[in-house]
Amino acid sequence: MIINACVRQSDSRTLRIAEPIIESLSQRYEVKRYDLPEMEGIVPLTPALFAQRGRGKIPTWALDAAKAMADADRLLIAAPFWDMSFPAALKAFFEQVSLFDITFTDTGKTCKGLCKSPKVLYLTTRGMDIATGDPFEQATPYLRAIGHLWNLGELTTIAAQNMDYSTPEEIESRIASAISEGLELAKTW
Ligand SMILES: Cc1cc2nc3c(=O)[nH]c(=O)nc-3n(C[C@H](O)[C@H](O)[C@H](O)COP(=O)(O)O)c2cc1C
Repeated sequence: MIINACVRQSDSRTLRIAEPIIESLSQRYEVKRYDLPEMEGIVPLTPALFAQRGRGKIPTWALDAAKAMADADRLLIAAPFWDMSFPAALKAFFEQVSLFDITFTDTGKTCKGLCKSPKVLYLTTRGMDIATGDPFEQATPYLRAIGHLWNLGELTTIAAQNMDYSTPEEIESRIASAISEGLELAKTW
């Protein structure tokens, strides 16, 4: 399953990194792709949507995506670093797709994930010189947390950073390195 949250679409450096890696993975996996910038309905749970959910009425796309998430063998997320995390469209997608008895359930004592992907790959680019694991980098920790709720496995982050404060040559070199790292991983991922 691919989730593309690259709002700048064809201008996105993150998407430039993601496309060859997705292409490589598509030789070994059947790909189901969610291009969030092109989808309608990627909104937070409004009072109306929340009330509908209570009546068991879930938007068809969200139900399908939740089932795809639960069934996926691998999950790849491409999202730029926005406001020290990822674009709200991705959070809205997660909010709509986090469905009881599909992506998670409960044991009576706590929540238990129902997804089965043992691996998650997160591709990103960051404007500032902030590394993965920096306390100000709040995308990777969130993805790890939602993975805990849903029972997703090992999270790998591949990032290019300082992209807004580098020369064009440096930017290109970092994009090329991230692609190589992803392609190398994709061989065995
Ligand atoms: C709306 C918006 C918010 C951003 N917020 C941050 C931020 O909080 N920290 C940061 O380091 N860069 C931030 N950036 C810069 C992007 O992370 C950087 O330019 C990145 O390479 C954009 O990825 P893209 O080319 O895939 O869209 C922001 C950019 C935009 C457009």
